[in-house]
Amino acid sequence: MTTSRRKFLSSISMLAASAAMPIHAFDFGASKKLKVALVGTGIRGITFWGKRLVDEYSDILEFVGLSDINSSRLEYGKGYIGVSCPTFTDFEKMVSSTKPDLVIVTTKDSTHHKFIIKGLEMGCDVLTEKPLTTDETKCQAILDAEKKSNKNLIVGFNYRWSPYATKVKELLANNAIGKLVSIDFHWYLNTYHGASYFRRWHGQMESGGSLWVHKATHHFDLLNWWIDSEPEEVFAYGDLEFYGKNGPFRGDKCRTCEHQSKCDFYWDINKDEFSKKLYVDHEHEDGYIRDNCLFREEIDIYDKMSAQVKYADNTILNYSLTTYSPYEGWRAAINGTKGRIEAWQDIPYFKNETTDEAEKHTKEMAQTSKDEIYYEPVILHKLWKTHETVQVPMEKSGHGGGDKRLHDKIFKSPETEDEFGRTAGVRDGAMSILIGVGARRSIEGGKPIKIADLTDLKPKVKRG
Ligand SMILES: NC(=O)c1ccc[n+]([C@@H]2O[C@H](COP(=O)([O-])OP(=O)(O)OC[C@H]3O[C@@H](n4cnc5c(N)ncnc54)[C@H](O)[C@@H]3O)[C@@H](O)[C@H]2O)c1
Repeated sequence: MTTSRRKFLSSISMLAASAAMPIHAFDFGASKKLKVALVGTGIRGITFWGKRLVDEYSDILEFVGLSDINSSRLEYGKGYIGVSCPTFTDFEKMVSSTKPDLVIVTTKDSTHHKFIIKGLEMGCDVLTEKPLTTDETKCQAILDAEKKSNKNLIVGFNYRWSPYATKVKELLANNAIGKLVSIDFHWYLNTYHGASYFRRWHGQMESGGSLWVHKATHHFDLLNWWIDSEPEEVFAYGDLEFYGKNGPFRGDKCRTCEHQSKCDFYWDINKDEFSKKLYVDHEHEDGYIRDNCLFREEIDIYDKMSAQVKYADNTILNYSLTTYSPYEGWRAAINGTKGRIEAWQDIPYFKNETTDEAEKHTKEMAQTSKDEIYYEPVILHKLWKTHETVQVPMEKSGHGGGDKRLHDKIFKSPETEDEFGRTAGVRDGAMSILIGVGARRSIEGGKPIKIADLTDLKPKVKRG
């Protein structure tokens, strides 16, 4: 086996290990390169976990199989990624005949558990996109399968790897504001990115677990990591007041809608060449309509969400998620016994430039941005002193440079110790979705939910 492959496998093990998990030994196959099979040839699968891996890491890995329920999109995905491996509509058949070392799961959220569990049972390491899964029952099944298996499970959390998020972690870890007391964290999705969730499967609870899970898993993972404790109790409010049944009119899909001229959300998917080739050209097979009406009646997720979370170390989080903001960005205020950190990203009024909100989302999804460097401020304000501005160097690539750094950690520098502990394992994946699942249960029942009542995981005062 080549050194690079050994390094890769060792890094997977380190990533899966998280803080408290043991590092497993690997069964090395006969191939010189790491054998990768991917299930879910949608946008995330073919771009970030497909083409990017082929472009950047072909010296150490090879795709041995691709799978999707839509055979037509699967063939398009294979060409886009640029590989010659066989394709399968049957996941188990792919794994049994190609015997991958690593299975990458990039399907619809509600199906992740099937491929994670089956992949582990069939003797593969598994890397799943976030969210780990969409409810507490599936989460418990994954935890059980992972315990039984001697294979590794990694959750692809990329936000932690953004230089900006890492700077906040560094300040907190260095005790810059004393003991952490509370955090206000507010995320604003704009009318392009936010709306995109309501156009497709994410708009239905059964497919994405609502944005409490699909989107907020990113935020809760970041917060759990910053706070360095585990969530104990959640109380939430949420409603659907803008999209779905609230729309003034509705049509079949944007392309054929009679309300095009008066709908602010009208989007001509046929003018977006990539979306047309990835979705429209294959919808005859499974009826997956990418430009669905975001005012359709079947939408049953929340479009405004607010929660309070109490952590095991007594830190209190005030969280909100807005889905139709004029701009996309976030703000956080972090209070400690010795001061306060204020952090934000993409608030247009704080910059001397105008932002094209539509373009921002397209670049993010297509992973096409160049690595341009720019600086973003974090405010550190200690009690009784004037504030300091810490300038953080950033990159205009996927998730502030987080996507690229996550890949590089796995594939390029696995042996470098990460002082910030940015690696995420199954417990991190579970803790981040359980806040969202708890929030849903809290809204349904009108009462606070104990995280310990959802699965057999008991929250720890110190994360890990
Ligand atoms: N980390 C990030 O920043 C990030 C960004 C985007 C998406 N994602 C995640 O990536 C995953 C995919 O998202 P996407 O935007 O690419 O979605 P998508 O709809 O473009 O692709 C999903 C693919 O899964 C396939 N699929 C659905 N059910 C299946 C099944 N039962 N068996 C096999 N294939 C099935 C679909 O046919 C489709 O090709 C999601 O879990 C999402 O949360 C993560």
